[in-house]
Amino acid sequence: MMLLSDMQLKMFEARDGAEAIEVFDSETIHLVITDLKLPKKSGMEVLNHIKEVKPEVPVIIITAFGSIDNAVEAIRLGAFDYVTKPFTEDKLRACVEKAMQISQLTSEVKYLRSEIEGKYTFNNIIGNSSEICEILRLAGEVSHTDTTVLITGESGTGKELLSRATHLNSARSKGPFLPVNCAAIPNALLEAELFGYERGAFTGAQQLKKGKFEIASGGTLFLDEIGDMELDVQAKLLRVLESKSFERLGGSKTVQSDVRIIAATNKDLESMVREKTFREDLFYRISVFPIRIPPLRERRNDIPLLSQYFIKEFATAFGRRPPVMSDKVMEMLYNHSWKGNIRELRNVLERAMILAKGEKITSRHVILHESHEKPLGELDLDQIVKLLVFDHRVGLEQVERRCIQYAMEVAGNNVSKAARLLGLSRATLRYRLDKLDDQVTGYR
Ligand SMILES: Nc1ncnc2c1ncn2[C@@H]1O[C@H](COP(=O)(O)OP(=O)(O)O)[C@@H](O)[C@H]1O
Ligand SMILES: [Mg+2]
Repeated sequence: MMLLSDMQLKMFEARDGAEAIEVFDSETIHLVITDLKLPKKSGMEVLNHIKEVKPEVPVIIITAFGSIDNAVEAIRLGAFDYVTKPFTEDKLRACVEKAMQISQLTSEVKYLRSEIEGKYTFNNIIGNSSEICEILRLAGEVSHTDTTVLITGESGTGKELLSRATHLNSARSKGPFLPVNCAAIPNALLEAELFGYERGAFTGAQQLKKGKFEIASGGTLFLDEIGDMELDVQAKLLRVLESKSFERLGGSKTVQSDVRIIAATNKDLESMVREKTFREDLFYRISVFPIRIPPLRERRNDIPLLSQYFIKEFATAFGRRPPVMSDKVMEMLYNHSWKGNIRELRNVLERAMILAKGEKITSRHVILHESHEKPLGELDLDQIVKLLVFDHRVGLEQVERRCIQYAMEVAGNNVSKAARLLGLSRATLRYRLDKLDDQVTGYR
């Protein structure tokens, strides 16, 4: 295949049909050239496999002179074209060029189609402030490229929502959208999570495990809370972004990476760079196309529209007609500081809808926290788990005991009340209390 090397195509070779299928499955291949007569598995079987898993990849068949029937059969099964042996370099080259052009066209058509569908996919991002309009314009432009996007903004501003929409508007929309929350996974495990590992890479690695970079192939990898990634994982990530390939932990085989990266953080990465807690080179690599989502209090004009949207959403979910809201409520919502941003607004309205029981929503139904701490409903369970179990090494039994103790305290030692707080039946809580040590038993 040396004759194709000056076309600047990266080539993978396989000695037989079985190997061809293996290579095809593990690498990102855009074009296949195969002889029909191969050891182990025939060219026809290779063709069948490719048409099954990735029908858009063009396959060029090479056949011996005099076996045109086979070639015709291959075309019928979806081969792009065939070349009979002996052939000239030019003949094969022309065939490859034609195939590449057509698959280029196919992906353009895919993109155009996604652009049309895209008209709808930014629809669930609500807002009419000039800020949100500008964000949607930027996201619309970058969505159909493979450019890395960095979305910054406080918690609850819609970073994940925007990155999903960006993915859905891209040519990769049929591929996976895979979020990885770098803050929720302890850094020691994050590397394995991202890059996978080979069997035997460390004790407990019983079998090969693919990482998110491999699983997201053909799609988008959403690196959420990237500011929480530790420096050594950052270094590894940078290498992958630069070489578009990586090795699984404990492995030497290079795996190609065909993912689009969207990263998000609520941290100020620039000051982290100054403090040397975030790599400068990685920062420049991921901030090619930054999008900042301002906090809700900086775009209060979105509050009325968002409120109506959430009220309709919950009304539908509760099977009710959307209730009206008093002017006082609208004013309260408009002037609140919204430290938890849109997530907080949504939670406040959900609570109000429940309290108002289908009647008009008045200020009695709206409970706003002005504290600087996050309202409890906003705490991310993953983060609590990370904090307790991984950072503080608190055992599960201890966690359970403390929850029960706390609920009993709050409930004034009333088991039924405590059970309700914990979301358990009275009998279950009784049973668990029995199992706990004397300290807790004393509560009964
Ligand atoms: N512009 C918006 N329109 C509608 N819903 C939104 C908007 N922005 C955020 N949300 C909703 O608010 C919640 C928090 O959004 P999310 O994307 O998880 O925020 P972040 O990742 O920045 O913490 C989600 O329920 C999301 O659907
Ligand atoms: Mg988030």
